Amino acid sequence: MQTIIEPFRIKSVEPLRWTTRERREELLKAAGYNLFKLRAGDILIDLLTDSGTSAMSTEQWAAMMRGDESYAGSESFYRFEHAVKDLTGFQHVIPTHQGRAAERILFSILCKPGDIVPNNTHFDTTRANIEFNGATAVNLPVPAASDTQARLPFKGNMDVYALERLIENEGVDRIPLVMITITNNSGGGQPVSMANLEAIRRVTAQRGIPLYLDACRFAENAWFIKRDEPGYERLSPREIACKMFSLADGCTFSAKKDAFANIGGFLCTNNPRLAEQETNLLILTEGFPTYGGLAGRDLEAIAVGLEEVLQPEYLEYRIASTAYLGRHIADHGVPIVEPPGGHAIYIDAGRMLSHIPREQYPGQALAVELYRHAGIRSVEIGSVMFGKTAMHELLRLAIPRRVYTQSHIDYLVEAILEVNERRHEIRGFEIESEPEFLRHFSARFRPCPPVMHPA
Ligand code: F0G
Repeated sequence: MQTIIEPFRIKSVEPLRWTTRERREELLKAAGYNLFKLRAGDILIDLLTDSGTSAMSTEQWAAMMRGDESYAGSESFYRFEHAVKDLTGFQHVIPTHQGRAAERILFSILCKPGDIVPNNTHFDTTRANIEFNGATAVNLPVPAASDTQARLPFKGNMDVYALERLIENEGVDRIPLVMITITNNSGGGQPVSMANLEAIRRVTAQRGIPLYLDACRFAENAWFIKRDEPGYERLSPREIACKMFSLADGCTFSAKKDAFANIGGFLCTNNPRLAEQETNLLILTEGFPTYGGLAGRDLEAIAVGLEEVLQPEYLEYRIASTAYLGRHIADHGVPIVEPPGGHAIYIDAGRMLSHIPREQYPGQALAVELYRHAGIRSVEIGSVMFGKTAMHELLRLAIPRRVYTQSHIDYLVEAILEVNERRHEIRGFEIESEPEFLRHFSARFRPCPPVMHPA
């Protein structure tokens, strides 16, 4: 059969709630045109994030009933630890309440002021946790990543030459670790090839620098390798994932993505001394080492999710349904980051709304317009989120896992194409008030006055 179907049927449903356009206009005004400030009940289709928004399976819910809530030595921890070790091969597994907790623990031990941490592209919490410890987060994407329209595989790769130059110029002692984000979220959800991972491994191993994976979307990355990298067609996603992990010295992981969990994460290492320091910090703020800020039932959901996410039928459907959205809008003239990534489609809002300068936040303008027009929530990934370091002005449509069906996607396509028809009418925004830190969560915006064209 040619048709790729959702590899599940639905047992429990969550009704959607409609609002009128007038109501959405009022809500937008009250929220200062910041979609993070909307109530979720006022949103029809929520593509703000794929994080923690997955639908869990019957097996996950069943496992949650087996959750052992013992403070110390919980059986759930041992099932979780076994699942993580079996997949990653790492010797020390530290549970955390989500990905950024793992980042905070790792960077507060490894980073000191003056240090540099390279990544293909840092996610915003990764950058913030590095910089909070006085170190500098450096992005080293391959040159192809700067062209959103280039239809090349593995645009998530790191620039290996740039990494070598950086190490030469700054010195090994200033680089406590190198990170690779798979898939590259801030870089358009693009995958990283095994060849790139191996090349980076060679560079870091020669110089004794630990290599870490930011592995949130490891399974989606493994599928792209299977699909697009010669030599991997016949391996299972699990075999490919195991090989990816085997190239690293440790990882941070948000179980809210490729483990179908609503909360959770972990930190792994093969270094026993580091594991001890990390565990001490864990106890200080997250919890005892056999639960790390999670309930036993959460550990169960993660253990099952890590198995399910590697099923080929699931990954084939997942990547195909994201590409379906991407192709249907891109082939009708909406510029997206090409080719479609794993967990999201990124519209190049700077290109689509070329009449709005980047100081007037085209990504934010498009996010507001999509909500106003069709009740869809998305997120700006551009100058609002990253300030001056933003490479592009993007709008991310992140697809929650196993949540929406093809007719929801068709609705999205229709709404986006309608907004694209009227794109010249969309106005930019200016910031009315903003906090110093992570302004995309709480800044208030106001629409810019209409542009006056000379007569
Ligand atoms: N690394 C990457 C690549 C991420 O995408 C995220 C979260 C994190 C780390 C932090 O994990 O949220 O569990 O603390 N990304 C979400 C997103 C929030 O919407 O892309 P967390």
